[in-house]
Amino acid sequence: KKGGFEHFMQKEIFEQPDVFYNSFAKKIDEDVISALKKAVLITVVACGTSYHAGIIFRYLMEKYCKIPVRVEIASEFSNFTPCRDSVMIAVTQSGETADTLSALKSSKSENCTTFAITNVLGSSVTRAADHVLYTLAGPEISVAATKSFTAQVAVLLKIVSCLSEYDIEEELSGIHAVLEEALMFDAEPAAELCKNSESMFFVGRGVFYPVSLEGALKMKEITYIHAEGYAAGELKHGPFSLLCENTPVIALCTKDESYPVMMSNIKEIKARGAPVIAIGTGDDIDLMEICDLYIPLPDSSKISEIITASVILQVLAYKTAVLLGRDVDKPRNLAKSVTVI
Ligand code: F6R
Repeated sequence: KKGGFEHFMQKEIFEQPDVFYNSFAKKIDEDVISALKKAVLITVVACGTSYHAGIIFRYLMEKYCKIPVRVEIASEFSNFTPCRDSVMIAVTQSGETADTLSALKSSKSENCTTFAITNVLGSSVTRAADHVLYTLAGPEISVAATKSFTAQVAVLLKIVSCLSEYDIEEELSGIHAVLEEALMFDAEPAAELCKNSESMFFVGRGVFYPVSLEGALKMKEITYIHAEGYAAGELKHGPFSLLCENTPVIALCTKDESYPVMMSNIKEIKARGAPVIAIGTGDDIDLMEICDLYIPLPDSSKISEIITASVILQVLAYKTAVLLGRDVDKPRNLAKSVTVI
């Protein structure tokens, strides 16, 4: 069943070139597009990994479509006031997460148009929402979400693409080959550096901030190493006091508009004694010089880098967990779907 792979998680990670490609290629119905086009505000509710996909969507939707997006953790949503007559998107792999379902239902009672993005045909959320968009990840056995995250990002990117003048499809045209290349990266040196740490930080700016949140979640979930995702500019507002030689920092530093300020953030981190593993664009000599270990992303478009960086962080978490002898597919204390509030 594992198709020659050691774990389901590894198999699912390697399915991602096809999963992303298929989920993005799927057409979205016209009635769904026109309902979304009317939105003056989109609220996304989700938990865990799906919540991180929602934050990525926020950065891209606001940048390319100028539609404001609010992203809320579903379990907190009942403490907020739903925005009447707006658009709500619930993102949930299983379609059964109790908090996400309840947030969606409460928005319906405020006259919102509701959308569900899910991986499971006929799941509870599909019965509760006005419109359903399916991710084409196929069954995900490993408790840690990998390919379902990539598929969610693909569907959310498809929405952005349908609502924007910008040619996102063109940017993603080479994604299958680029993801295949990203999956060939050797995670062992970075995993060796991480495996004995007390605590870790994952940092990025802009859309790489939610990518870092997801990288940290994957790391802590399957290795049991404490890991925090942080906006790179926020570290100096407290967490700097935690930095030492045993707190590796994974820094996402691609050549985008945040590059100069990310470079100075990395220098600040280095000056406080923490080892830095940097993930960047191609052969970035300047970045290589200031970090302890450098992981280049394959040559690709800016939007593709969001996906390749996410996949590389999954492989890093996986490799670290294997070196530590963890139960990768079934981490302690966790269940695949959380159906209680
Ligand atoms: C992390 C993980 C969880 C889920 C969360 C939401 O790897 O799998 O954080 O993302 O429990 O689940 P769904 O998407 O089914 O609502």
